[in-house]
Amino acid sequence: MDELSISVEPLGSQHDCVTFSCGEPALDDYLRHRASQDVRRRVAQVFVAAGDTPGKIAGYYTLSAVSFEKDRLPDELAKKLPHYPVPAALIGRFAIDCNYQGIGLGEFLLLDAIRRIIHASLTIAVYAIVVDAKNDNVQAFYERYGFKSFASQPRRLFMPVQTFVNLGL
Ligand SMILES: CC(C)(COP(=O)(O)OP(=O)(O)OC[C@H]1O[C@@H](n2cnc3c(N)ncnc32)[C@H](O)[C@@H]1OP(=O)(O)O)[C@@H](O)C(=O)NCCC(=O)NCCS
Repeated sequence: MDELSISVEPLGSQHDCVTFSCGEPALDDYLRHRASQDVRRRVAQVFVAAGDTPGKIAGYYTLSAVSFEKDRLPDELAKKLPHYPVPAALIGRFAIDCNYQGIGLGEFLLLDAIRRIIHASLTIAVYAIVVDAKNDNVQAFYERYGFKSFASQPRRLFMPVQTFVNLGL
């Protein structure tokens, strides 16, 4: 990662969505055909990692607001929460282009998303970060950063924001 100069910025018309390829067709298609529309409709914000080549997207993630019932959390967390839906931030899609995988960009981009959510949570309360994993392999990636599966939905994982704050993020 050190040798690459990467900046993370909102998706814009200067970015080339067509050549992005991460090995998961649904995530490539989303960037090509739906991401800009989702931003316009305010149902997701899309952030891209821009590399040295102008327009090239090295990775991207999406952020949206969600909520869930507290009984989906383990008892030790649920018992400390009130009886209304728990506010959360969803990293709904997350992908690194094949040419940039395995060099630390996934970790860099995940930490960028977490920091952005922590910052937003100073204005609008966010209890947890929720992520959707597309397959076992990606689930393992999120688990190494402490995310835990919801019992009822193993591919959807969560982590309380406070845990990341306590880690100094
Ligand atoms: C899974 C993915 C996000 C990982 O990104 P990446 O940039 O290749 O990962 P990094 O290089 O930042 O790896 C950071 C650390 O995570 C580890 N790691 C990477 N992929 C992993 C995986 N699938 N499972 C467990 N650990 C993983 C790395 O070994 C590295 O650990 P280390 O620092 O101890 O060596 C990326 O490969 C990807 O986009 N895959 C295809 C698209 C996809 O399926 N996206 C997710 C859909 S929800």
